[in-house]
Amino acid sequence: MGASFVYVFIFLLTLLLYVFLRKNKKESQQIAKLPPGSMGWPYIGETLQLYSQDPNVFFAEKQKRYGEIFKTHFLGCPCVMLASPEAARFVLVTEAHLFKPTYPKSKERLIGPSAIFFHQGKYHTRLRRLVQGSLSLDAIKNLMGGLGAIAASTFDSWAGGHVVNTYQEMKKLSFDVGILIIFGNLEARYREELKKNYLIVDKGYNSFPNNIPGTRYKMALQARERLTKIISDIISERKEKKLIEKDLLGCLLNSKDENGQILMVDQIMDNIIGVLFAARDTTASAMTWIVKYLHDNPKLLEAVKAEQNAIRRQNDEANQPLSWSQIRNMPLSSKVVLESLRMASIISFTFREAVADVEYKGYLIPKGWKVMPLFRNFHHNPEFFPDPQKFDPSRFEVAPKPNTFMPFGNGVHACPGNELAKMEMLIVIHHLVTKFRWEVVGTESGIQYSPFPVPMQGLPARFWKESSN
Ligand code: HEM
Repeated sequence: MGASFVYVFIFLLTLLLYVFLRKNKKESQQIAKLPPGSMGWPYIGETLQLYSQDPNVFFAEKQKRYGEIFKTHFLGCPCVMLASPEAARFVLVTEAHLFKPTYPKSKERLIGPSAIFFHQGKYHTRLRRLVQGSLSLDAIKNLMGGLGAIAASTFDSWAGGHVVNTYQEMKKLSFDVGILIIFGNLEARYREELKKNYLIVDKGYNSFPNNIPGTRYKMALQARERLTKIISDIISERKEKKLIEKDLLGCLLNSKDENGQILMVDQIMDNIIGVLFAARDTTASAMTWIVKYLHDNPKLLEAVKAEQNAIRRQNDEANQPLSWSQIRNMPLSSKVVLESLRMASIISFTFREAVADVEYKGYLIPKGWKVMPLFRNFHHNPEFFPDPQKFDPSRFEVAPKPNTFMPFGNGVHACPGNELAKMEMLIVIHHLVTKFRWEVVGTESGIQYSPFPVPMQGLPARFWKESSN
């Protein structure tokens, strides 16, 4: 009798526990449900829908249908997309510790696993201080002369009216600026070797990852090896000559943490290649859009020319180069830069991965899911930017609402190169509009993804040098 009472008691207790746990699970599911949206086909999800059309149209249609937070599934990953500034801030700033950066392994392997983008926490903070230091206003001010010389010689090579692919040419320019930031005035033979091998890495970056000799990916891996060899030769030479430079390489080489630990060679290599990657195509794409927008808006171009020619006349009279205070006082050109960044939204979105189950506005973002703040969606939202398809720099006479304008991201991983990129664009505008006129070739309009958005065919154009006025 006693024993059977214990059995009945245990049975009832288990039953009660079961009912309690089920109820709790149901309740937590009710409190936090998955966001609306379609997960598409098994495994392939909505990959085909995304790749068969303009990704911005895909995201905009989803937002129209489901609202500012929705789920999807592509490239084998379940994702939550966030199309509101508050949601982006939640992921990138306020709850950034719950979302880690995430990149495909094949890309991590090409750039280098110790590069700043892939990390969080102490190592990231240390690197960030170093990278930010060498890209600070004080550091980049001193590079104005070097940057002006790069812009002038690049544009001179375009003059003469032959057709150039503006994007390809802008990539040459922004690569040289990247080299200047990292290595200072580097010997031409090193620069050429770095360029040759970087181009092979770049070609393989978006190709199918494999180890088969002769494929783009494998060739990219081999070129990356050669890049590290060239960089280590540069480092050895600096050490031999006891050179202590203030460029990014110098900062990385001289850094010691609180325990006196220096960075390992691999860490230095990965970050140098990483910064080159971050700096080149982004800035080149933005500068190509500036050339297009100015071309398409002749009245605006005249006004920008007037602003820049006034500066040029001043400098010609005093026989002086463009100065930092002039760069900081180009009201119209600065707004052209901001409006180009908004319209083009070079980094249309970014990726993070939830490190735990996270709840946002009653929705569950499950651990391991990718999360994508869609910068472009809020840059093109008429609620924040009226008539969003119109190129209108004057909208920046008033500061955008907080967190609605994030061309350089937000939070701990926000772009440390943003001031350099803006300075580069203003120097390019100055040289371009004061010394050249140009015509776009062909009538093809629209956006091409490479993978950043660029005008169709890289904006073929003809440039002529104008006699000084
Ligand atoms: C118009 C040009 C540029 C645009 C639109 C741009 C945009 C961005 C964005 C949106 C991020 C954040 C990505 C994320 O949160 O996942 C980022 C990160 C970064 N950018 Fe830029 N960038 C530009 C130019 C540059 C330049 C010129 C440099 C360096 C010389 C640079 C170096 C970096 C680095 C190192 C990071 C990673 C920071 C970290 O993870 O802490 N960028 N950039």
